[in-house]
Amino acid sequence: MTVESVQPEDRTEAAGRPAEPPLAGGAVPALGHGLKLVRDPLGFMAQLRDHGDVVRLRLGPKTVYAVTAPALTGALALSPDYIISGPLWESLEDLLGKEGVATANGSLHRRQRRTIQPAFRLDAIPAYGPIMEEEAHALTRRWQGAGTVDCTAESFRIAVRVAARCLLRGAYMDERAERLSGALATVFRGMYRRMVVPLGPLYRLPIPANREFNRALADLHLLVDEIVAERRASGQKPDDLLTALLEAKDDNGDPIGEQEIHDQVVAILTPGSETIASTIMWLMQVLAEHPEHADRIRAEVESVTGGRPVAFEDVRKLTHTNNVIVETMRLRPAVWILTRRAVTDTELGGYRIPAGADIVYSPYAVQRDPRSYADHLEFDPDRWLPERSKDVPKFAMSPFSVGNRKCPSDHFSMAQLSLITAVMATGFRLEQVPGSRDATRVGITLRPHRLLVRALPR
Ligand code: HEM
Repeated sequence: MTVESVQPEDRTEAAGRPAEPPLAGGAVPALGHGLKLVRDPLGFMAQLRDHGDVVRLRLGPKTVYAVTAPALTGALALSPDYIISGPLWESLEDLLGKEGVATANGSLHRRQRRTIQPAFRLDAIPAYGPIMEEEAHALTRRWQGAGTVDCTAESFRIAVRVAARCLLRGAYMDERAERLSGALATVFRGMYRRMVVPLGPLYRLPIPANREFNRALADLHLLVDEIVAERRASGQKPDDLLTALLEAKDDNGDPIGEQEIHDQVVAILTPGSETIASTIMWLMQVLAEHPEHADRIRAEVESVTGGRPVAFEDVRKLTHTNNVIVETMRLRPAVWILTRRAVTDTELGGYRIPAGADIVYSPYAVQRDPRSYADHLEFDPDRWLPERSKDVPKFAMSPFSVGNRKCPSDHFSMAQLSLITAVMATGFRLEQVPGSRDATRVGITLRPHRLLVRALPR
């Protein structure tokens, strides 16, 4: 399916203008669809496809538009008529800063992307290979005789260490990465609560949960300041993302301000750790739940390496490993909801979208759509074999998104996920232990509630 193929169907009204999208069923007076969305966000987003390709939702007094057809989510992400804005982003900006690439728009965003992009280009990734290998194999040493592994702590540890050591190089990163992972885990938990239940002043009350959140947020910002100050004091300019940020110029050719440097580091570290950490948690869950795929990964890795420790240059040969990761990301996408705001009166799929409208779509719902995937809820990594994956409709699997906001880190992420998965599956058999709870916890990302595994050396 292509974007064009779902374009109108003539939905023009008698007056000659595009029709309003249908109102999704199930709205109740005053609250609209709000309660359903809060109670069961994933189920709610998934069933919207039954109401149309584009539907209207009522969230209290507000109308929000939801896009459900894969091709239209691609059209939305690729169109200049929509920007990053809206309540979700505003609350993120309040906490994480207003001058980072993840929330900027227009010429500021284009300039910021030009600054960070070189660090993520395909040809830049091999330079990170040794660090990714080191971090993946360090996991083997930590897990030997470890008893129970707390997957949340372990996943954050790897994700933050890899992002921080690769992109902000420096010896000091080793200890800082531990502090960063602790701070980020607490900040993300609290941030989601503040975004979905905006209780304003109540979050300022001096109760333990608020104090813990504020401490972690302050520590995150302090850590970033320390990292920037130490790099400056060192006088060194290694070829990395931090140097690129410190040397960046604005459109007038002047150095960018301190606040922008700070916000940029935060804007890269925060999505760079939470998303990878959540995906690693799901990969651990998959290896425990599908030992047959863990065995296939192990056999594949051994056939490629001949028994030596897996290395960065092996990654592109690990086809089944890659397919297990993609299938994990299909069913358990870290980024499960995305939003945009229309900057002009426009249309989508033949429906009218007014300027200022907030639009949501859910990669989780799109990637579980039975119209796109046979046996859509089955965990079947072989669906990504070339002869089968060609039937997957365009934009039905875009975990890194498309267009000008596409994740810059797709190659960086896939390389480290492949190495980590290969190391976990070859070194250990994972089993969930009593007390582990792998039900999906909905937050800024999707992750298991509390995944605990026993890592039995192979
Ligand atoms: C943006 C997914 C890892 C940095 C995005 C977006 C998605 C995404 C879907 C687009 C958001 C939108 O359209 O509104 C993922 C997934 C990851 C991952 C699934 C891993 C499994 C990373 C890592 C980093 C990173 C490791 C950095 C080290 C960013 C940044 C943006 C972004 C800076 C904002 C880009 C912009 O607005 O121009 N990511 N990401 N991501 N991601 Fe990732």
